[in-house]
Amino acid sequence: MKTFPTSAVWCFGILFISVSLITIGSSEVQVVGPADRVDALAGDDIILPCSLKPNISAKDMLVQWTGLYLKTRNVHLYRQGRDSNEDQFPSYRGRTSMFHEELKNGNVSLKLTRVTLSDTGRYRCFLPTLTSQVKETTIQLLVGAVSQPVISIDGTKDWGVVLKCESGGWFPEPDMEWLDSSGTNPPADGPPEKHRDSEGLYTVRQHVTVDKTDTNMFTCRVHQTEINHLKETEIHVPDDVFPKSQVELIIGLIAAAVVVLAASAGVYMWRKYTEEKRELLEQQVKNLKLIREVKRDALVVDIHRVHLSQNVTLVIPIAFFLIRSERYYEIHAARTRQDQMKLLYQALEEAEDTRRMKSDFYRILLDLEPDLLIDLGATFVDVNKDQLIQKVTKVKPILLELFYEKLYCNTRIHQMTSQDQMRQLYQALEEADDPRRVKLDFYRILLDLEPDLLIDLGKNLFLWLHITGI
Ligand SMILES: *[C@@H]1O[C@H](CO)[C@@H](O)[C@H](O)[C@H]1NC(C)=O
Ligand SMILES: *[C@@H]1O[C@H](CO)[C@@H](O)[C@H](O)[C@H]1NC(C)=O
Repeated sequence: MKTFPTSAVWCFGILFISVSLITIGSSEVQVVGPADRVDALAGDDIILPCSLKPNISAKDMLVQWTGLYLKTRNVHLYRQGRDSNEDQFPSYRGRTSMFHEELKNGNVSLKLTRVTLSDTGRYRCFLPTLTSQVKETTIQLLVGAVSQPVISIDGTKDWGVVLKCESGGWFPEPDMEWLDSSGTNPPADGPPEKHRDSEGLYTVRQHVTVDKTDTNMFTCRVHQTEINHLKETEIHVPDDVFPKSQVELIIGLIAAAVVVLAASAGVYMWRKYTEEKRELLEQQVKNLKLIREVKRDALVVDIHRVHLSQNVTLVIPIAFFLIRSERYYEIHAARTRQDQMKLLYQALEEAEDTRRMKSDFYRILLDLEPDLLIDLGATFVDVNKDQLIQKVTKVKPILLELFYEKLYCNTRIHQMTSQDQMRQLYQALEEADDPRRVKLDFYRILLDLEPDLLIDLGKNLFLWLHITGI
């Protein structure tokens, strides 16, 4: 009975040992792969790591590289100490290999050359001949694609320059951002546009409007975080590409406005000045003419006081129009026409602007009793024709006033002697529409321009003037 426990102990001992041995033996050799995904760019040569742990030789083992989900076809096969392309996916032909030198160290990694986007996926490293439980591992491969962004100047907007950044041939889908030299993002004209081409590659594009900075350097950055790749391109925008800045523009506008204002003010002032000057001149000429007319009218009224005093018949109506004072009642009350005329003349002399008053008298008289005045002038001009032709020297100003177009503007006249000019003048007087009326005007002008000559010619007439002291 004593052996039972002993045999039992043995029995348990053997069981324990065998269980332990089984446990150790199955955990002894493992197929291990990388913890991280393998990232690559299209065109790269890569290694999909796979090894035995502990590092026993794999030289004589069967190593099968497949896709994780498509296990019936091989990516690569190592059998009986050599590579085999049995059941290999055509797309991997010629691109796979194993490190034969490393096999003895349990390194069964697969080298894959010139990877393409379609190589992306999960791979299985499988050693079916291993007796252990962990005969396989999976490795994830991500093949990406990148390209350099291209920047172009796309025009201007408001005060800024529109820049376009474009980058095609990316995988996976990248992000794009713009940066200025201080590292901040200028305002983009919207989110980046992205589209994918038939090969599965992404093109990304973004417009941005930038304002002038210290450096005018701007960066377009495209990055793909999954494959941790970043590409950027810088651009320097020359100063003169920018539209005039707001401040410059405002200053410019103000300056332009000031210039325009000043110019138009100048033009306005100058115009106003010349206009005023012209008006003033015209007014002066008018005034001078008027003054001259008034003077001539008054001369007639003065010189022919006696004649007029004796011959004016419509004294009361004339006084009614002319006299705006008590004198009018006195004139009205006077018994004889001579008395009336005497009072009328007194009223004329008393007036504030006596010349003006006399001129008004002349004008009224010319309206009411034209023949009285016209006879005076025309008769004098006719009677003294020969004398006047001989003695009048200031013919030109007379022609200027009376026959401007007909005679004054005729260059021939200016080469003639004053006598011939006077003859022409007399001829023109006779040809006038109303010769007698024009002769009166001629007479009035003579009174003004050649008073001494007229005094000579009509001595008797003027004797009275000297007596009365006018
Ligand atoms: C394999 O293991 C041995 C001993 O454990 C070590 O000396 C050797 O460097 C290892 N080889 C590799 C490739 O890890
Ligand atoms: C296997 O061999 C390759 C090529 O020499 C080497 O790059 C890789 O690091 C090795 N893998 C391990 C797990 O030792």
